[in-house]
Amino acid sequence: MEFYLSNRFIAISVIVGLFFLSCKDEKKETDVPVVKKVEYQMYQPSEMAGFMNAMYAYNMQLKQQIVAGEAPVSMSLDLMTLHSAEMTKGKGRTVAWNSFVNVFIESQEAITDTRSNFELKERYNAAINNCLSCHKTECVGPIPKIKKLLIL
Ligand code: HEC
Repeated sequence: MEFYLSNRFIAISVIVGLFFLSCKDEKKETDVPVVKKVEYQMYQPSEMAGFMNAMYAYNMQLKQQIVAGEAPVSMSLDLMTLHSAEMTKGKGRTVAWNSFVNVFIESQEAITDTRSNFELKERYNAAINNCLSCHKTECVGPIPKIKKLLIL
């Protein structure tokens, strides 16, 4: 127990030490919590980034339902937001984006289409693979995260 506690103490000391190291460029008199607050205010995710995160959360929920043997019947997202949302500065609707977006929207809607002849898991994975197709050219960063949505 004592050993465990002292290990934890060392770990916390190292983390705290690293924190102060990373702040060594800041002026000494500056109040650290105030500096952090300013940093948070500077991060403004775009409307599109916000919608992408909502799509991620929605599909994670679908995955859990499908794995549990339930068939999702309602689509809670307004996918037309993909056509209207403002994107991060420097990003835009490229030729590649335009070639992927409608294919994706159709596949996302097909998941809750109860008349479909295709297996639910197949339809779900097809939609997630369409997220990935677009991301391969338009925004590679979140690919490992999106892959976690696939039902293996
Ligand atoms: C037609 C192309 C396209 C499709 C389809 C697409 N994305 Fe994206 N995604 C993008 C682009 C471009 C961005 C960057 C948006 C920005 O920064 O304004 C992005 C950003 C993201 C982000 C990062 C958001 C952030 O916080 O910066 C996540 C997570 C994400 N997408 C998940 C998904 C998921 C999950 C799907 C499918 C359900 C999906 N995307 C479908 C193009 C696409």
